[in-house]
Amino acid sequence: MSTVNPHLPVIAVLGGTGKEGPGLAMRWAHAGYKIIIGSRQAEKAQTTAVELNAKLGIDFVEGLQNEAAARQADISVLTVVYTAHEAAVRSLKDALRGKILVDATARVDFRDPRPPAPPSAPSQAQEVLGDGVRVVGAFQTVPAHVLKKKLGEALDTDVLVCADDLDAAGQVIQLAEAGGMRAYYAGRLENAIVAEGLTAVMISLNKHYGVRTASIAVTGLSPQPA
Ligand SMILES: NC(=O)c1ccc[n+]([C@@H]2O[C@H](COP(=O)([O-])OP(=O)(O)OC[C@H]3O[C@@H](n4cnc5c(N)ncnc54)[C@H](OP(=O)(O)O)[C@@H]3O)[C@@H](O)[C@H]2O)c1
Repeated sequence: MSTVNPHLPVIAVLGGTGKEGPGLAMRWAHAGYKIIIGSRQAEKAQTTAVELNAKLGIDFVEGLQNEAAARQADISVLTVVYTAHEAAVRSLKDALRGKILVDATARVDFRDPRPPAPPSAPSQAQEVLGDGVRVVGAFQTVPAHVLKKKLGEALDTDVLVCADDLDAAGQVIQLAEAGGMRAYYAGRLENAIVAEGLTAVMISLNKHYGVRTASIAVTGLSPQPA
């Protein structure tokens, strides 16, 4: 049975009742992070928390309303449906002050996948939240289906971490790695528009090749032989 590690940051997964959020939450809870699932309805968040606890044989995943979850967490990860992005960010402004918000939003319609126009969703969030919140774009290219793979096994997926604050990016890289993913600093927050656009490419790949697991890999970063 995993136990919670009190030295790790507390993570809220906002909109963590859908497809992407529970997969991330499950992996982080397995790695010993205290997890709070957020929802518009506390009862719905609690239902997901109970399911995750049962699946992992643990008791430290909690469920709260999104705002309360964000207030109790050190790092919040936003996984609400993309059409609710702006409203969700506005409603969380006070609760997120002084903290890190990880924005996983990819504004792409599954039925008609096209790259969204700039600015990126995380840049829009930063604009609304102001300097008091450090926004990081990450996990847009990690399919929910991939997260369901066996726990404890490394996932064959790379995370592009975009942020204006290097320390915040470093914390999110650690979080991704704790969840079994490879993660890389991929430049400033505005670059997150590329990660969002890659989602349109991945959905198109999934449709064409009849899979649900298309993702991305970064190459060429290991030192080259002389
Ligand atoms: N699915 C993927 O493979 C994937 C991969 C990478 C990134 N993403 C990104 O992750 C985010 C979530 O994707 P998903 O597929 O998990 O979405 P989803 O299952 O359709 O929805 C996630 C959650 O959004 C919340 N929500 C729905 N309408 C809302 C509203 N009007 N206001 C506030 N919250 C609302 C719901 O939570 P409550 O009803 O509990 O409030 C729902 O459980 C999206 O931005 C997506 O682009 C998804």
